[in-house]
Amino acid sequence: MERRAAGLPLEHVLGWAEFCGLRIAVDPGVFVPRRRTEFLARHAAAFTRPGAVVLDLCCGSGAVGAAVADARGPVALHAVDIDPAAARCARRNLAAAGGQVHEGDLYEPLPAALRGRVDVLVANAPYVPTDAVGLLPPEARLHEPRAALDGGADGLDIQRRVAHAAAAWLRPGGRLLVETSRGQAARTVDIFARNGLVPRAATSDELNATVVIGARPAVDQRPDAEEPPLTGHGEGRRARHGRVQTPDHERHVGG
Ligand SMILES: C[S@@+](CC[C@H](N)C(=O)[O-])C[C@H]1O[C@@H](n2cnc3c(N)ncnc32)[C@H](O)[C@@H]1O
Repeated sequence: MERRAAGLPLEHVLGWAEFCGLRIAVDPGVFVPRRRTEFLARHAAAFTRPGAVVLDLCCGSGAVGAAVADARGPVALHAVDIDPAAARCARRNLAAAGGQVHEGDLYEPLPAALRGRVDVLVANAPYVPTDAVGLLPPEARLHEPRAALDGGADGLDIQRRVAHAAAAWLRPGGRLLVETSRGQAARTVDIFARNGLVPRAATSDELNATVVIGARPAVDQRPDAEEPPLTGHGEGRRARHGRVQTPDHERHVGG
């Protein structure tokens, strides 16, 4: 009670957050997975087939990778975070899915054997512009690490680095998916296109969420030819809890 009154996020007091119907452990100082990020996880799951190689960059607690594995497992799941506390937390959350968690800077700690083999690369990288970090609610500003929030001058520095190397790690036809904001989406789309990915954006008004999805062109140059429909995430689990997934309003943004 005292810690909550002192402004600690509820999830840090409880030690867990609900994400896509899962209970995700969230240690002190680790980014709390947001409800809007379920939109990213659901899109990533829609591109994931059993046995797929899934890479969750900037994984934090590992919530996104855990949700994808829960919806589509078994998958070969890798996750990376630069923050040792986040990597430790993700190891616990991804153990059941057999996920391998690597500590380090973006692609740097990954085994070279993964190059060109990733089917789904998902990244909820920090995307708040430096000048806007001070405007965040105190729960985030004071209790989540700055490195989890600050995306540089225009908020897109880490997205640029993720997109720049993505084609080298994706298999032909593989997808990169990142969360961004509605106001930043056109620039994120542009970053994807400049790095050889075929981009589109999707938004959910209900979750106030925006995701940019980029395909590494397949040999036939028709990356959308086999695009699967977006389905509800973790439907079996939801059904058991009697919750109904309503379709999201999707539309193209900025490209
Ligand atoms: C916005 S949080 C998202 C965490 C998690 N994906 C989620 O959605 O709950 C961003 C995460 O990126 C990590 N991060 C920041 N810079 C990084 C880098 N260069 N390499 C790897 N991880 C990084 C932070 O430590 C933080 O855990």
